Amino acid sequence: MFKINENYLKLPGSYLFSTIGKKVNAYKEANPDKEIISLGIGDVTQPLAPAIIDSLHKAVDEMAARETFHGYAPDLGYEFLRSAIAKNDYAARGADIAIDEIFVSDGAKCDSGNIQEIFSINNKIAVCDPVYPVYVDTNAMAGRTGIYNKETELWSDVIYMPCKAENGFAPELPEETPDIIYLCFPNNPTGATIKKPQLQEWVDYANKTGAVIIYDAAYEAYISEEDVPHTIYECEGAKTCAIELNSFSKNAGFTGTRLGYAVVPKALKDSDGNSLNALWARRHGTKFNGAPYIIQRAGEAVYSEEGKKQTKEQIAYYMNNAGIIKEGLKEAGFTVSGGVNAPYIWLTAPDGMTSWEFFDYLLANANVVGTPGSGFGPSGEGYFRLTAFGTYENTIEALKRIKEL
Ligand code: MLT
Repeated sequence: MFKINENYLKLPGSYLFSTIGKKVNAYKEANPDKEIISLGIGDVTQPLAPAIIDSLHKAVDEMAARETFHGYAPDLGYEFLRSAIAKNDYAARGADIAIDEIFVSDGAKCDSGNIQEIFSINNKIAVCDPVYPVYVDTNAMAGRTGIYNKETELWSDVIYMPCKAENGFAPELPEETPDIIYLCFPNNPTGATIKKPQLQEWVDYANKTGAVIIYDAAYEAYISEEDVPHTIYECEGAKTCAIELNSFSKNAGFTGTRLGYAVVPKALKDSDGNSLNALWARRHGTKFNGAPYIIQRAGEAVYSEEGKKQTKEQIAYYMNNAGIIKEGLKEAGFTVSGGVNAPYIWLTAPDGMTSWEFFDYLLANANVVGTPGSGFGPSGEGYFRLTAFGTYENTIEALKRIKEL
């Protein structure tokens, strides 16, 4: 009789956003007349920009003619997209990333879950707490996280770096030395950022200790302040210690279209001198047949002059929502942070409520859905996340309801 991978049995509960979805559906069923506003999962609401739609149409037409039809994409991505990424996301920021260090994928969620495969099972991971759940769960699936303690909600073999108001939601260098460090800035869920000198400290630390940083830059397009790095490769020495993940979901609305990429520099080697770039290429080639041609052309259009202008307008639209949420919450007496360089607003649940108590309260009394901070880790307890990715009208209405509570 077959047996399953027992690591899966150790996973606590269901995936955060599935749990929220179930709770909201149950509430909707019991209250069919209520108009629910979702500011929970960070899913975009604006349609794809016209320049992206034009390129999609054109690419679809190409697929209709034998001369321009495309079958399997190159498994590392088309050169037209990889060179647009190298030029716009790196060279323009003073970072020298070669095309063959860029691996196009179907999104940063898969990359952030899959990347752990190329590391030893004995490697120890360090994560921010609260944390995007995918990092920990996928390491747990691989059997790298030890035993889960239901009471503390901590894994025995994970180094947690608490990010709370007291430290400006920025992780401190851990006492125990990790092998793999997950960092995400601008941060999901807190919306916090770190400045370049702080990120440089992490890069220096990783180079000194022989750790690798997995840097999730999915929200970099939302950075509005100076001196907040858009890529870890703005830091000196990052190419010998860091992998970067990025996504087209948040900067250009590809949540339903799916496109992302990972940067694995050739200079990045493990302690025996093995190249991670070669290993990731081997893994990518074996398990992935490339993101669709049509979607990669759409990704290329994000970097066209029109595409840049239009996606910038969308980001401004969402950041206007962020301002509305932040100011509205402040007026209503909430303690809030984030929302300046990120589309997430992180608030303290009022009256000593737990994160899930506030979730239920908000759903029942304002018919607004948010994300409980404790779903991202124990240091998220007592906090709550609202996203700026809703429509302007829903954001205004949600804040009106919250203020009336
Ligand atoms: C979130 O809400 O945290 C994100 O949208 C989830 C994701 O990007 O997978």
